[in-house]
Amino acid sequence: MRILSGIQPSGQLHLGNYFGAIYNWVRLQNKGEECFFFLADLHAQTVPYEAATRPGIILELAATLMACGIDPHKSVLFVQSQVPAHTQLSWILSCLAPFGELERMVQFKEKSEAAPHAVNVGLFTYPILQAADVLLYRPDMVPVGIDQAQHLELTRTLAHKFNNRFCPADAPLFKEPKTLHSTTIKVLGLDGQRKMSKSFNNYIGLTEPEDVLWEKLRHAATDPARVKRTDPGNPDICNVFSWHKLFSPIEVQEDRAAGCRSAAIGCIDCKKTLFTHMNALLAPIREKYHVLMQRPDDIRDALEAGAKRARGVADATMETVYKLVGGL
Ligand code: ADP
Ligand code: TRP
Repeated sequence: MRILSGIQPSGQLHLGNYFGAIYNWVRLQNKGEECFFFLADLHAQTVPYEAATRPGIILELAATLMACGIDPHKSVLFVQSQVPAHTQLSWILSCLAPFGELERMVQFKEKSEAAPHAVNVGLFTYPILQAADVLLYRPDMVPVGIDQAQHLELTRTLAHKFNNRFCPADAPLFKEPKTLHSTTIKVLGLDGQRKMSKSFNNYIGLTEPEDVLWEKLRHAATDPARVKRTDPGNPDICNVFSWHKLFSPIEVQEDRAAGCRSAAIGCIDCKKTLFTHMNALLAPIREKYHVLMQRPDDIRDALEAGAKRARGVADATMETVYKLVGGL
């Protein structure tokens, strides 16, 4: 099977990204699937950003992905803007994309309503570029978080439209890929209310230093009904407990849940246990990340090698596309 996915270099990767997307990427790669993963730096230009800090953010994201287990020898890991075919196909698809359908995109509505005076055309055509990212490589599956499902739906619509319009019936060019969601659909943030997100500043970063990690956990929202240490708590409505389910072995979860319900333990005790198990997963990622970041040129080389392999596939698709659409 061929797998493809992308993630924007717009800040530090957090637990939501890890369980919602990256964990699945690593799993698929290690199952031996043919994987293409890229850093969507062009998509990240649709919201205001500081150009001077972008190269550093790209390298940090690449190093974090590698530290999480993405191996550039096993997967094709690259930066979107280093493969010009993405923007080339994006134009062709934009001439097939229904305007009304783009207007209905939830992410566009949310982002444009959040900043009504800063709506640029790129934010509107964002899903078309995403469709191009995908279709160029003709993957079977695209592992993403649930919020990307609508964009993948449009991707299939555009594949279908292109095939219908330009290809012989028995030789469609594009595949309509399946969307693959992780079992963890949504990780909530430190506030225990909204999804963990860079935009809400309620996240735990994957490479956060140990002391910062503990500080964040210490203040994280728990069962809102439990006011005093002596009150019994309810793990079913406690966000910290939902994190235990991601990090702690089942017997630890059961022990902490029972202690919470009987008020034998307080929230801080429960958080200390969580910290131990969370840190057991994050410490090796953090360490590997720092080792990788000491050799930024090696990261650049790995990304350049990835881009070269990606261009091989993407340029071949574009050659066919230009013929099919009536180029000379
Ligand atoms: P952010 O909201 O922090 O900007 P992105 O939108 O860049 O995160 O998300 C990158 C990937 O991680 C997407 O596939 C998205 O669905 C997934 N993802 C992001 N936040 C979460 C979350 N809190 N829970 C589960 N998956 C998430
Ligand atoms: N829009 C995706 C996100 O915000 C990132 C992305 C860009 C992507 N192009 C893609 C994901 C292609 C999967 C396939 O998370």
